[in-house]
Amino acid sequence: MTEQTANGAPEQERVLIFDTTLRDGEQSPGATMTLTEKLEVATLLDEMGVDIIEAGFPIASEGDFEAVREISKVVKNAVVCGLARAGAKDIDRAWEALQGARRARIHTFISTSPLHMKYKLQMEPEEVLEAIARSVSHARSLTDDVQWSPEDGTRTEHDFLCRAVETAIKAGATTINIPDTVGYTAPGESAALIRMLKERVPDIDKVVISTHCHNDLGMAVANALAAVEAGARQVECTINGLGERAGNAALEEVVMAMRVRNDIMPWRTGVDTTKIMQASRLVSRITGFPVQYNKAIVGKNAFAHESGIHQDGMLKHAGTYEIMRPEDVGLTASNLVMGKHSGRNALRAKLRELGFELGDNQLNDVFVRFKALADQKKEVYDEDLLALMTEMHSDAGSDRVKVKSLTVTCGTLRPSAVLTLEIDGEEKTTTATGDGPVDSCFKAVNQLVPNQARLQLYQVHAVTEGTDAQATVSVRIEEDGRIASGQSADTDTILASTRAYVHALNRLMVRREKRAPDAMAKGA
Ligand code: KIV
Ligand code: ZN
Repeated sequence: MTEQTANGAPEQERVLIFDTTLRDGEQSPGATMTLTEKLEVATLLDEMGVDIIEAGFPIASEGDFEAVREISKVVKNAVVCGLARAGAKDIDRAWEALQGARRARIHTFISTSPLHMKYKLQMEPEEVLEAIARSVSHARSLTDDVQWSPEDGTRTEHDFLCRAVETAIKAGATTINIPDTVGYTAPGESAALIRMLKERVPDIDKVVISTHCHNDLGMAVANALAAVEAGARQVECTINGLGERAGNAALEEVVMAMRVRNDIMPWRTGVDTTKIMQASRLVSRITGFPVQYNKAIVGKNAFAHESGIHQDGMLKHAGTYEIMRPEDVGLTASNLVMGKHSGRNALRAKLRELGFELGDNQLNDVFVRFKALADQKKEVYDEDLLALMTEMHSDAGSDRVKVKSLTVTCGTLRPSAVLTLEIDGEEKTTTATGDGPVDSCFKAVNQLVPNQARLQLYQVHAVTEGTDAQATVSVRIEEDGRIASGQSADTDTILASTRAYVHALNRLMVRREKRAPDAMAKGA
């Protein structure tokens, strides 16, 4: 894959970026996305130059199937990929969902570690090899682009892993992905595993080797980069490192590491890094998963300099304390303050800087809310606008339940709330008392929307400084193992709390319709 540049210098080898935010990322408890949200993420991933978008697990639910089908229709450049277990039904369903894609890939997998084969699959190793041959050949009869993964690959015995990979290649796999399913490996071991496969498996040079690392020990990105150093040429990753348990390797970290340390990691990706912040904010807003302040590349503090010595150095030369420029990841230098005299065009420009491209109707809606906010607060900062966009999003038109009005009494009296909700188009009002204003509001919601959900998290965060600051509220609830989160922002913390709770309940209703895929049946 080494090519020539215009000036004749050899071009660096390309590492393919395979994004699985919409599949592995969405499997993260509480990170459910609606179809519209998935389409928004897929469109941005495509625009930013991701090579392969894993759009979902079509057999898992009607929702996943529909998402893969619709994403296939809108993605222009990237390969769209659907996940399937080793059974023909799974593979056929994935292929059916991918029909509208310009370029489609089937990704099929089966466990190969002794633990998984014995307890999860209850299959003998020879049966697993047969299932690999059968499933990959079947997928290959449908498309030329077939990826195969040995689940729990890093805990698989080497001899058996070599036989399994060889079987998949013989059956027609074009990409072999090695998952560190439980985030168990370490960088040296990750590289050694890829080298071992390259040395021992016949024809492995005819396929693309891929790496898929989970972050249980905080080494996902390091493990992925080590695998690349050893010869992997596809990295599976997610925006903000979203994913099962501690998440996957973070796309932004993998891509920026190769770019900033290109002197020691001489590979190129096709990702437009200036879209990284936009993607990070979008995924955070949609899932309700906040990005930790000190998160590499996309955290709020990633480019902030507080100490006097650092600030002094930065003023003299930015390179003293910054190894990459904020604008390289799409962060704008200015934090232009907006206020009630700011006009529509200024708001549009500011939102564009923050990564929101709005049509005229959307801009009108945001402008009305912006004016209301500017009346309450003298100065509106970037953070306020981001919170406002979150609020607009959590107030999505498709929600079945909406907050219409709320009056709360609190202080020295027993706190109480009078709440009106619109539920499936019909307005209903109730009154509730509780241990504090938020408790009263949540009880009122529960009277109008009966549910068994248990509150797992209630978190309030002031967006900016000052007593007039907006509060963003995050709520996470759980019902029968299903987790849903909601977010809202307002200068009124109680109202934001009630809306966040209602938002979470709306998402729980969507989640109820999703069915987890059954454990792999023997011989499936
Ligand atoms: O972590 C894992 O093993 C996976 C596979 C389906 C590739 O996500
Ligand atoms: Zn995974």
